[in-house]
Amino acid sequence: MTQKRLLAKTLRAEIAAQYCNPNALRGQARPARVDSALDDQTCSRARAAITSWSNYAPTPLHSLPALAHEIGIGQLLYKDESTRFGLGSFKALGGAYAVLHSVAQEISVRGSTATDIKALMTGQLSEAAGEITVATATDGNHGRSVAWGAGNVGCKCVIYMHAEVSPGRQSAVEAFGAEVVRVPGDYGESARQAAQDAAANGWLLVSDTAWPGYTEIPRAVMAGYTVMSTEAMDQLPATTPTHVFVQGGCGGLAGAVCADLWHRYESQRPRFVVVEPVPADCLFQSAVAGAVVNISVTRESVMGGLSCGEVSLLGWDILESGADHFLTIEDDAVGPLMKQLAQGRGDDPRIVAGEAAVAGLAGCIAARADADLCQTLALNEQSTVLVFGTEGATDPTVYRQLVGSAADDLL
Ligand SMILES: Cc1ncc(COP(=O)(O)O)c(C=O)c1O
Repeated sequence: MTQKRLLAKTLRAEIAAQYCNPNALRGQARPARVDSALDDQTCSRARAAITSWSNYAPTPLHSLPALAHEIGIGQLLYKDESTRFGLGSFKALGGAYAVLHSVAQEISVRGSTATDIKALMTGQLSEAAGEITVATATDGNHGRSVAWGAGNVGCKCVIYMHAEVSPGRQSAVEAFGAEVVRVPGDYGESARQAAQDAAANGWLLVSDTAWPGYTEIPRAVMAGYTVMSTEAMDQLPATTPTHVFVQGGCGGLAGAVCADLWHRYESQRPRFVVVEPVPADCLFQSAVAGAVVNISVTRESVMGGLSCGEVSLLGWDILESGADHFLTIEDDAVGPLMKQLAQGRGDDPRIVAGEAAVAGLAGCIAARADADLCQTLALNEQSTVLVFGTEGATDPTVYRQLVGSAADDLL
């Protein structure tokens, strides 16, 4: 592990800490453990369901040649989730699908009959669904997705938020008719409270984080996320990306993307780098320890969606051999990078990127400025880098504070 502080030309991003994963399987077929965590069939089922929803539309994959030139790479491809299902983040794919999946299963169990998923999604089974309550903890986006999914199928919904989640994110969840319960402490505390109350009240817990004995629902969440990565792979120009930089919260997103790339590209898959905020570096710490390490978040990152100290077991099962490198970054790159994307460099399109959206890109910029790391990762002016802009202005107030103008005024 080395500590570096380097700058990339006028684009500032610093690596706080980095770790090269000695267990990464480069140029090899995926191990059975990856498919046990997330197999391609489960992902295909989720993709078929989600792409059949009436308001489904693929999100854009932007090529940013001016920014790529400035960073010193061949191509930069940015998958822009700011418009996903009108919810503003990729999380719309996971929680809502997992609600559908788990409520359908619960109705079948209670009524001893198979449930018509399409009828459930369009609210035609709302009488049966209305007997069911779903619950989860959230930093904002997952809860919004679960609340939206619950509203679609007609079940009740209780969302747990820790003290630092912004009021804007609370009202966005309440707008879908969910009840919000505030919990003192960090994300971990809210997750424990949600699990406890769900067990006590007979509610369905729809968590995006898996732990021993609780994997089916988070697997459905992750399968939903592969709509995003599969779309990106389908939208890519003829080349396969050489590198993918993905931000990590609990690791559900990074694990899902990593597995999906491995399913598609097999042993030719791109190098895979996980980027986390320093105060919530649970995946980084797990990589260093070679086993799951959960941490307490004692300082909240501005990248609220990544401010999570609990590792998802399924995410880890994939990343432990699928991630080549782990990086951590501080918050200072975030606001300026959001601004850069909002202004658009050269002829690059203007993009509304939220706080957690830019972490992967910041990791790429910081990595490109580190000569040793560039060598380790074979990152150079020929590289084609894919990043996931996982959210837009999901909290307009926070967005305006960081960028200096409202998202609506920019585009
Ligand atoms: C916008 C955004 N990006 C990335 C993540 C990270 O996802 P995960 O917690 O599955 O690692 C989150 C999590 O909430 C998020 O909201």
